[in-house]
Amino acid sequence: MNFYASVLRPLLFLLDAESAHHLAIQALKWGVYPRSVNPPDPVLKFDLWDLEFPTPIGMAAGFDKNAEVFEALLNLGFGFVETGSVTPLAQSGNDKPRMFRLPEDHGVINRLGFNNNGLVSYTQKFKNWNNRGGSGIVGANLGKNKTSNDKITDFVTGVYAVAEYASYLVVNVSSPNTPGLRDLQAREDLLELIGAVIRARSECEKKPPLLVKMAPDLSDEDMSDLAEVALATKIDGIIVTNTTINRPASLLSKNKVETGGLSGEPLLEMSTQILRDMYQKTNGDIPLIGVGGV
Ligand SMILES: Cc1cc2nc3c(=O)[nH]c(=O)nc-3n(C[C@H](O)[C@H](O)[C@H](O)COP(=O)(O)O)c2cc1C
Repeated sequence: MNFYASVLRPLLFLLDAESAHHLAIQALKWGVYPRSVNPPDPVLKFDLWDLEFPTPIGMAAGFDKNAEVFEALLNLGFGFVETGSVTPLAQSGNDKPRMFRLPEDHGVINRLGFNNNGLVSYTQKFKNWNNRGGSGIVGANLGKNKTSNDKITDFVTGVYAVAEYASYLVVNVSSPNTPGLRDLQAREDLLELIGAVIRARSECEKKPPLLVKMAPDLSDEDMSDLAEVALATKIDGIIVTNTTINRPASLLSKNKVETGGLSGEPLLEMSTQILRDMYQKTNGDIPLIGVGGV
């Protein structure tokens, strides 16, 4: 057994899931983490969207919501880091507890609800990094405030704020913990949203690739619609998938009854099947980033 499994993990499990997450962020901020000493095997390197990825394994959105530790995550050996989701205004998210381990299932359920410090502080982190001449692939995952009634403005605001700094942009219409958000995956709403976001990007000096992050809980018809919209609007990629609101019958943990999005091993098969489906529905013409249970 390695140090993580035999010592660190049992210690972290003494804390509730969100406190353990917070501690991990602090450790990365303090520089208490092992640096990746060997450069990744060159066989893992690939080029996409004018970016050179050192490895295809990245950190998904939700870990570094406030863009505080992406440099440390790159130093750990991740090939890229997706920060956020960030919303224009800071918001505290749902009441705690809101993150639950399912140890028997190797999964997590969260209903954080886009807790984050908002765009001003987030963008400043990118600016500081830029000023230090930082390098690496760092994406910005954009969400909307819970109190925002407008379907589009928050995403457009996000694009204007971060297009100059982020390596790629993600329109996140798939988190289950913001009421109404996932409805934006429906054909007409998505067309309107992506159209507005692409227009906003065209007005920015830098035009980073634009991706959409999808839920694993869409019907086959909705997935086809999403694929058609993606092809028609020529977005640069799809992230497959966010957490699921489904609860596979195989779950054992008592925490399976908690409301929120399920991630980890119980999502692996589901999200991988959707990856296959989306590849077919987009004729292999759009880069897909697989997420879920990795
Ligand atoms: C605690 C937690 C917070 C998350 N927050 C976000 C988020 O803010 N935005 C987002 O797009 N996805 C978020 N996700 C979803 C992940 O990015 C990922 O899509 C999902 O967890 C499935 O991958 P995994 O099984 O490897 O964890 C979050 C997941 C977890 C567990």
